[in-house]
Amino acid sequence: MSEPVAQKTISVEVNGTTYEREVEARRLLVHFLRDDLDLTGTHVGCDTGNCGACSVIVDGTLLKSCMMLAIQADGASIETVEGLGADGELNPLQQAFGEHHALQCGYCTPGMLMSAKALLDENPEPTEGEIRRAIQGNICRCTGYVNIVEAIAAAAEAGR
Ligand code: FES
Ligand code: FES
Repeated sequence: MSEPVAQKTISVEVNGTTYEREVEARRLLVHFLRDDLDLTGTHVGCDTGNCGACSVIVDGTLLKSCMMLAIQADGASIETVEGLGADGELNPLQQAFGEHHALQCGYCTPGMLMSAKALLDENPEPTEGEIRRAIQGNICRCTGYVNIVEAIAAAAEAGR
């Protein structure tokens, strides 16, 4: 007979809304966001910490949500891609990604946007090198990165 799986009730704030849920101790944060909270904007590309598609901001720190257990986020404030726009409006990063053709299939885009947001939150006037370093944990198989870098620079410019 298999052992019962340990469960824990956690409370997290995601994009300003508080959720209380019972989760298995082994559940990854990315699966909690997507499957328990139905916030499927955060993507799963590899499940091994390599691609960055699952990037979210937890208590102000950019993290790969496939590398964190949901129970480790108990009490945390989390930002996901769903929180970027407001009242049906795109935020400047989303707008710039569209205008600069910074996406093709779009699979990497939520993670790219969150990495870019974390950068601009901390450094509103990044150099090109700083932008490239900020997205070095995010893999894009489509764009060649140039337009993504341009979009982030344009969003920084727009935010000034
Ligand atoms: S799904 Fe998390 S880094 Fe790829
Ligand atoms: S737009 Fe396709 S992986 Fe980046």
